[in-house]
Amino acid sequence: EAIEKGGFEHFMLKEIYEQERSIFDCMRGRLNAEAGTLTLGGIHHYQEHLINANRIIIVACGTSWHAGLVAEYMFEEFARIPVEVEYASEFRYRNPVINKGDVVIAISQSGETADTLAAMELAKSQGAIVLGVCNVVGSSIARLSHEGVYTHAGPEIGVASTKAFTAQLTVLAMIALKTAWHRKTLSEARFLEYLCELERIPAKVAKCFELNDKITVISELFKDARNFLYLGRGYNFPVALEGALKLKEISYIHAEGYPAAEMKHGPIALIDEEMPVVFIATRDSSYDKVVSNIQEVKARGGRVIVVVTKGDALIPKMADFVVEVPKTCDAFMPMVSVVPLQLLSYHIAVMRGCNVDQPRNLAKSVTVE
Ligand code: G6P
Repeated sequence: EAIEKGGFEHFMLKEIYEQERSIFDCMRGRLNAEAGTLTLGGIHHYQEHLINANRIIIVACGTSWHAGLVAEYMFEEFARIPVEVEYASEFRYRNPVINKGDVVIAISQSGETADTLAAMELAKSQGAIVLGVCNVVGSSIARLSHEGVYTHAGPEIGVASTKAFTAQLTVLAMIALKTAWHRKTLSEARFLEYLCELERIPAKVAKCFELNDKITVISELFKDARNFLYLGRGYNFPVALEGALKLKEISYIHAEGYPAAEMKHGPIALIDEEMPVVFIATRDSSYDKVVSNIQEVKARGGRVIVVVTKGDALIPKMADFVVEVPKTCDAFMPMVSVVPLQLLSYHIAVMRGCNVDQPRNLAKSVTVE
């Protein structure tokens, strides 16, 4: 096992560090920014359905569902197709409306999640085309899909998903971009810019590893907190959910992720010096609004840890701690901004003496409903 961990203390840490490579692997043979090409052989036959889709319905569970939320924003921004993101467990029991022209995308690391499988079966029985985004080759979900794109992240052993999540985001970004290209909802120039930027993501993820020492110090200071709030907006809202989920899963600290603007409708009542708040406040279209939210938390005595874009001069003046991540476009920021949150939950869990790779009550793949 020590050999499999490749010198890391836990699989989770190894897998966090593997993300530079796994995101690259996910694009290899598919994306070539220099040549301006993006080829997704896995969805060749049903590509037309996606291009002409009236609506995309994404079904998934857990971390994969968070990847689906990011994909919703990507498909809407790039390809202008309306998207609904469903918990597979809810979708399957709701007699959902599935219309002709709807395309279902199932996202799953393991490819064995019972609820996701059942949701796909239901969608297929109603005539929908179902595409899969899976990590495990030959898994049940991969086999049940009409077609699909593998994430090629390699085996993920840690129960808390890390590299599978960023690989899912990479695949979903590529599917959304390819669809947009066919639909002509992105100019050729913008399309090429996105391809170039996607190729730069592995190096930007690697930059985040330089934050490890700082995050270890922050973790030491906050490891005894009983609750955490994670706030983000736009593309960083699903990142807030994912950051909170990571902390819950492995450190057993209660954490909630929320869209930053919704704070005023409830969570703000919880803010005091005992409630650390993690903001994901990178430079994007909602930056100014999130800055106001940080001020609101500070005014109520809350302690804030903020993920910012490198070079941010404003937030360090008001935050208790900042961690700087490299700049990228809004749509790809989740692949980068999630990394410090993965590290934060990892270090806090280790300091609390938790079994990071096999947290209590959780399974890597949930094959029962
Ligand atoms: C379990 C795992 C999570 C995962 C979820 C969905 O709860 O512990 O890490 O996100 O299942 O799994 P899937 O394999 O379908 O992505």
